[in-house]
Amino acid sequence: MLRGPWRPLWLFVLLLPLPGALEPRSASRLWEETDEPRSPWAWPGFQRLKEQLRAAAALSKRYWTLFSRQVWPDDCDEDEEAAAGSPGWRLPLLGQRYLDLLTTWYCSFRDCCPSGDCRISNNFTGLEWDLNVRLHGQHLVQQLVLSTVRGYLETPQPDKALALSFHGWSGTGKNFVARMLAENLYRDGLRSDCVRMFIATIHFPHPKYVDLYKEQLKGQIREMQQLCYQTLFIFDEAEKLHPGLLEVLGPPLERRAPEDDRAESPWTIFLFLSNLRGDRINEVVLKLLKDGWSREEITMEHLEPHLQAEIVETIDNGFGHSRLVRENLIDYFVPFLPLEYRHVRLCARDAFLSQELLYTEETLDEIAQMMVYVPKEEQLFSSQGCKSISQRINYFLS
Ligand SMILES: *[C@@H]1O[C@H](CO)[C@@H](O)[C@H](O)[C@H]1NC(C)=O
Repeated sequence: MLRGPWRPLWLFVLLLPLPGALEPRSASRLWEETDEPRSPWAWPGFQRLKEQLRAAAALSKRYWTLFSRQVWPDDCDEDEEAAAGSPGWRLPLLGQRYLDLLTTWYCSFRDCCPSGDCRISNNFTGLEWDLNVRLHGQHLVQQLVLSTVRGYLETPQPDKALALSFHGWSGTGKNFVARMLAENLYRDGLRSDCVRMFIATIHFPHPKYVDLYKEQLKGQIREMQQLCYQTLFIFDEAEKLHPGLLEVLGPPLERRAPEDDRAESPWTIFLFLSNLRGDRINEVVLKLLKDGWSREEITMEHLEPHLQAEIVETIDNGFGHSRLVRENLIDYFVPFLPLEYRHVRLCARDAFLSQELLYTEETLDEIAQMMVYVPKEEQLFSSQGCKSISQRINYFLS
């Protein structure tokens, strides 16, 4: 009768009443009390399962937390108590076999992957391709982002979150790269349960509510870290974040003590996007180009030391003064270089291609010429980068 895919489900329903009703002490009593003939507990298969459960192997706590939160969302507080205190009823009782049954059942309505959690895709080939093909004029970003993110996500048990701070003028690709990361690391991209994007002026607009925002932000970070073993938090307009909010981000970015066995996701990436010191990057690049360097010869050594020191010195800015920067909680400052005419052309070409429209070389030139180039004298860098190129194309077509 109870065969095939329904069997695990049925077993699961049987086991559902267990939470709260059971403690390790009383477990054996419960098994005996429920042996009436009509009781499901008397089913022979259950007796076998009982044996298997007793022989339970170590349970993946993280997986269990994830699972139980999906199934019993209201039960979270109890979960935390159970996790914080003695191992609780679940650890001795629930074994690998039980977990397998749960997994089968869970996967019958949520898609599962051989890798475990389908929501996380970590497609580094895709990320590399996107960075090399879709991003223009940012050779430093290409190298740095791929190697640090990949290195971090391939570390078995990182003791720290990875924090990258993207700097550069608007339109140079900071948001674009953040989206590439979301799309290649998570199946659902920015809409994933494991990805959260905050825009300072939209999510935290009123300084007078900063205490409320702090609580919310703390809660959201903790909650997401418990739901996903790999999380991505993006803070756009980071230069506009209130200092109080930046303080909240200190603890999640700090190094974890090895014995600290929090049930939180071990892999957490924080991205901070800002135009802070974008002018300085442009000055350095302009000077190097004028000195005869080619753009591709510019290295991190030219830019990064400037960037970090200067950000700390930005006295009027919360970000520079937060402990994130002061205490070196940011792992890398990633400079986005100002874009030149030829890069804007490439952005225009991509926009045509993505809309499956035909274009000519002349059209690309016309679009690139619509942008304003600075500084006045050299007219070298597009002041808006590649921003709103696709809108310009629509304008051009109409
Ligand atoms: C990774 O991304 C590339 C390029 O977007 C795509 O062709 C490939 O199918 C992806 N691989 C997986 C395993 O999703």
